[in-house]
Amino acid sequence: MSYYTKHVFFCTNQRDLGAECCHSAGSSDLQAYAKARVTQLKLSGGSGKVRINRAGCLNRCDEGPVLVVYPEAVWYRVFDKADVEEIIQSHILGNTPVDRLRLAD
Ligand code: FES
Repeated sequence: MSYYTKHVFFCTNQRDLGAECCHSAGSSDLQAYAKARVTQLKLSGGSGKVRINRAGCLNRCDEGPVLVVYPEAVWYRVFDKADVEEIIQSHILGNTPVDRLRLAD
């Protein structure tokens, strides 16, 4: 049993010299949106709750913005807030991963 029911890591890494990275693709705004929504839905907290974290480079830079949801270790590429909302509603609340946004393991 994991401490959090869902622990989500958004890569918000910013690389130098204009190199492709999740930050330049908007990941910081998307992470902030997810954090705000989880708080708004009263899902955030400690044991048994949901945690939205920022992460450094997850080494999938050309697939970004990327995030990963544990404990299932499901990787996603998200393009906008609607994608993030779909993951919150389907995966975080409904335990059903969003296949159309999944990245290969
Ligand atoms: S910059 Fe996001 S995975 Fe590397």
